[in-house]
Amino acid sequence: MKFRLFVAAAMAVSLALPAAAQQPIVIKFSHVVAVNTPKGKGADYFKKLAEERTGGKVKVEVYPNSQLFKDGEEMEALQLGSVQMLAPSVSKFGPLGAREFEIFDLPYIFDSYDDLHKVTDGPVGKALFKKLESKGIIGLAYWANGFKDMSANKALRKPEDMKGLKMRIQSSKVLDSEMRAFGALPQVMAFSEVYQAMQTGVVDGSENPPSNFYTQKMHEVQKYLTLTDHGVIEYAVIVNKKFWDGLPADIRTTLEGAMKDATKYADDIAKKENDEALAAVKASGKTEIITLSPAEKAAWKKAAIVVHKENESRVGKETIETVYKETGFKP
Ligand code: LMR
Repeated sequence: MKFRLFVAAAMAVSLALPAAAQQPIVIKFSHVVAVNTPKGKGADYFKKLAEERTGGKVKVEVYPNSQLFKDGEEMEALQLGSVQMLAPSVSKFGPLGAREFEIFDLPYIFDSYDDLHKVTDGPVGKALFKKLESKGIIGLAYWANGFKDMSANKALRKPEDMKGLKMRIQSSKVLDSEMRAFGALPQVMAFSEVYQAMQTGVVDGSENPPSNFYTQKMHEVQKYLTLTDHGVIEYAVIVNKKFWDGLPADIRTTLEGAMKDATKYADDIAKKENDEALAAVKASGKTEIITLSPAEKAAWKKAAIVVHKENESRVGKETIETVYKETGFKP
């Protein structure tokens, strides 16, 4: 009798095991931009690599375009474990209590993608990720989008043209200072609401790289785009720490490899995606693109430079100096 019970129990276990083993680990990866952007494509590429390399043991569900959560909401969802992975712009980390990430918002501090990579790959990038751990978050990678341009329904050639304009910004105090330095009135708003706010005149304009400008159809509701290149949009791919630490070690290692390769892919396509988006804006004939001469660009930089000093205590004087050294920036 005992033997029969043992055999029945053993059979039940052996029948149950394959079914249990087939249940994939699900990673919900939420983001706010369109699929056809450096971040959208990077997320999809990570999904592909993660699913292939784990032989289907991991399923990555990508939710683009604020489908699942808007800015702000998605951070909370990550901490609560409703989603496992995000890639927010680092300009949105202030409300989380990690204001030092706003170093990336200092106007004109980066001249090129190379400058940006020097900082994210160096001690500053690592130290910033360390700050997330106490918030229950792990930083896996930095992904670059590109350089921001200023848009409005009015031609912006000199910083004074910004005077009195209501400009949408991300939730960064440094961006607030930046818009005020230009004489504009900053308004924090979720990315998903910007198109409508422009359409209805709730805001006059905004700043974004061409890839976001075009894929959110902002060219339909903004008459001018000035190639100011005054700042960057940089992302941090982040995961819920409890979820990540709880993964089987071999799966985690495989996912880290997939993230490394997806990061290279996202960084490699970023410039091309933005160049193509700018060409598409031009081709639409709906938004006039304003190119600045070096002297005009210098005037924008001169107006914005005060923002660095103003935010020394917010982002850290030492961190600013390290970034100056790494990028060769001269205030
Ligand atoms: C924005 O909110 O302007 C952008 O950072 C959105 C994004 O994720 O690129």
